[in-house]
Amino acid sequence: MKIGVIGTGYVGLTTGICLAELGNKVCCVDKKKRKIEDLKKGKIPIYEPGLKELLDKNKSRVSFTTDTKKCVESAEVIYIAVGTPAKPTGEADITQIEEVSRDIAGVLNDYKVIVEKSTVPVKTGEWVKRTIKLNVPQEVDFDVVSNPEFLREGSAIDDFLHPDRILLGVESKRAKNIMMELYKPLNAPFVITDIKSAEIIKHAANSFLALKISYINAIANICELVNADVISVAEGMGYDKRIGRQFLDAGIGYGGSCFPKDVSAFIKITEEFGYDFELLKIVEKINREQRKNFILKIKKSLWILKNKTICVLGLSFKPNTDDIREAPSIDIIEALLKEGAKIKAYDPAAVARTREIFKEIDYKDNPYDAASESDALLILTEWDEFKNLDLKKIKEVMHQPIIVDGRNIFDPKKMAEMGFTYASIGR
Ligand code: UGA
Repeated sequence: MKIGVIGTGYVGLTTGICLAELGNKVCCVDKKKRKIEDLKKGKIPIYEPGLKELLDKNKSRVSFTTDTKKCVESAEVIYIAVGTPAKPTGEADITQIEEVSRDIAGVLNDYKVIVEKSTVPVKTGEWVKRTIKLNVPQEVDFDVVSNPEFLREGSAIDDFLHPDRILLGVESKRAKNIMMELYKPLNAPFVITDIKSAEIIKHAANSFLALKISYINAIANICELVNADVISVAEGMGYDKRIGRQFLDAGIGYGGSCFPKDVSAFIKITEEFGYDFELLKIVEKINREQRKNFILKIKKSLWILKNKTICVLGLSFKPNTDDIREAPSIDIIEALLKEGAKIKAYDPAAVARTREIFKEIDYKDNPYDAASESDALLILTEWDEFKNLDLKKIKEVMHQPIIVDGRNIFDPKKMAEMGFTYASIGR
């Protein structure tokens, strides 16, 4: 099939390249000229394991352009994958969705399926349809489909090619058949709904996962009060198939470009329709407090932070990405700097992005240089590299052997045996 993808962010780019891998001819559009120039040269603007290799493999089937018209005219299915960032109020800013809908309308020449791929508030599909209808120069048939994406950064290709389900919010049989044909090679179960239900499923699923994380973080806080172990609790809960072990890792809370934005957007949109989603407000509160509690933990281990040298290992919001959007590391570093601490930091991928925010940090090329002469070491992201650290060496180079672990990657007993003062979450 001939596919157009508008927006080459995380979702758009992965979708485009993966659809090419399935044998389709894909045209990716973005307004940013430089990004498109880079993509034409095979340069991927994001850190996503395997994506460059997959683009190289499929380069005969993928093209990049800034010309929406060229792309829309020739495509049978057009994906809208532009950003829906949060406004300061928490509500989703869907300006770009409206702009793209108008752009598509202006060049709609034949029946096409317009797929809403970005995460959007419920009823956006209705607006997309209305906007296109109002702006088409001549009467032309088209369908809008909601097809939310569930891929995770760091495992985006695998998530796209091996999804748990393919969600299609459709209004017509014609659109449904085209979309099912397109995704047939993935061999995954289809969930077919109306458009509004599909839009809600995406917000409800992300918010539920965020809720699961805040729930286990609340349990971790209780475990600390009574000297229990949250990892054992999560294991005991997780064996129940109705609960499941995934997303029950306590820590310094969720970050990234999705959960924080989607939870607050869901609260806002439901408020607009007259429902006060108090449960999700508490999810957000617990998430914020988790970072504050971590600062208190550092203070408990170090007492005064002023002029102390603190080593931060892990800056990205999770492993296998260079993304620091809404990363706990940002709030934590900000608080430490405010208290007058000196920071040395290392991350396998996110140093360049963090440097744009914090110039005053002493960035190092490896964890040992970062740990050298430090008064405490913090684990903020659970990269595999940190799980395999030579802790003996770390202890030798540190000024004092204090580790505050925000991701529970080490065994407290072993750490104590090695002579570390070790604090973690909920243990
Ligand atoms: C999330 C969803 O998992 C995807 O299904 C969805 O498609 C995506 O948002 C999106 O809406 O685009 P992502 O933000 O890439 O994916 O990352 P996750 O792996 O879900 O992690 C989110 C945050 O939760 C991270 O900060 C992670 O450290 C934290 N987390 C996750 C925990 O603190 N504990 C856990 O047990 C799991």
